[in-house]
Amino acid sequence: MEENPLCKCLMCIISTVGFVFFSLWITSLRAQPPNFYVQSIHFPSLNKTLIHNNNHSISFTLKIVNPNSDKGVQYDAVSVSFGIFITDNATVSLANATLQGFYQGHGKKAVKSGTAKGNGGGGRGGGGKVFLRVELATAVKYKNLVWYSKRHRLWGGANVEMNVTSGTKVSPKGIRLGHVPARFGSGASAQARGAGILVYLLLTLCFCLS
Ligand SMILES: *[C@@H]1O[C@H](CO)[C@@H](O)[C@H](O)[C@H]1NC(C)=O
Ligand SMILES: *[C@@H]1O[C@H](CO)[C@@H](O)[C@H](O)[C@H]1NC(C)=O
Ligand SMILES: *[C@@H]1O[C@H](CO)[C@@H](O)[C@H](O)[C@H]1NC(C)=O
Ligand SMILES: *[C@@H]1O[C@H](CO)[C@@H](O)[C@H](O)[C@H]1NC(C)=O
Ligand SMILES: *[C@@H]1O[C@H](CO)[C@@H](O)[C@H](O)[C@H]1NC(C)=O
Repeated sequence: MEENPLCKCLMCIISTVGFVFFSLWITSLRAQPPNFYVQSIHFPSLNKTLIHNNNHSISFTLKIVNPNSDKGVQYDAVSVSFGIFITDNATVSLANATLQGFYQGHGKKAVKSGTAKGNGGGGRGGGGKVFLRVELATAVKYKNLVWYSKRHRLWGGANVEMNVTSGTKVSPKGIRLGHVPARFGSGASAQARGAGILVYLLLTLCFCLS
């Protein structure tokens, strides 16, 4: 059976255009960086810490939300640090913790608990209210279909008011570790691959024209 050249050409154009749109669609799906919230803090020796230097142990719970319904997130180890404000703008380190890296599926929420240990340092709350500085840093790779993006470093922090009596945070709600600048991370993106797509297009065109 003889091939119809017009038909072949049309097929080529249609598949090329289709592929272009598919590629644009894939690359347009920029990865949104995950959101981190400190859900709970328990700092039993907070009251003593304000007076003496003490051995601090701070247990905490984080909620980590992957906002991407079409991408998984592979986290490197997550480091969490706690400090206490000694003036309006200065903090003293209290304790650090590291959570193991993990994989998070599309659009999933994860709750991670840990305990941060410090070896003294102490601090003094300002007039009346006591604020902790909670900071988080990690790096992530986004999983698109079957491949991973490059690594993106993420960080964020929050100033959390504490109840000295209970050793927990005053607000019962989760507090976003977003910080100034309010955005978490630095323009995480899943672009790149542009070059690969271009090569593919050229190959397709060559095939069509031959
Ligand atoms: C803090 O911990 C260190 C070692 O773990 C210990 O030597 C020290 O005595 C402790 N200090 C207090 C105030 O408990
Ligand atoms: C921190 O606060 C002190 C006074 O409370 C002020 O002199 C200093 O400039 C501040 N530093 C920054 C970096 O804002
Ligand atoms: C926590 O980690 C920071 C940075 O690595 C360090 O400067 C600080 O001394 C640590 N704090 C404690 C209490 O170990
Ligand atoms: C916190 O410390 C102050 C001063 O030592 C004390 O009066 C108060 O009862 C303590 N509060 C708790 C809940 O232990
Ligand atoms: C602090 O905690 C104590 C004991 O849980 C509670 O009675 C008090 O109302 C709390 N204070 C604030 C400001 O939340």
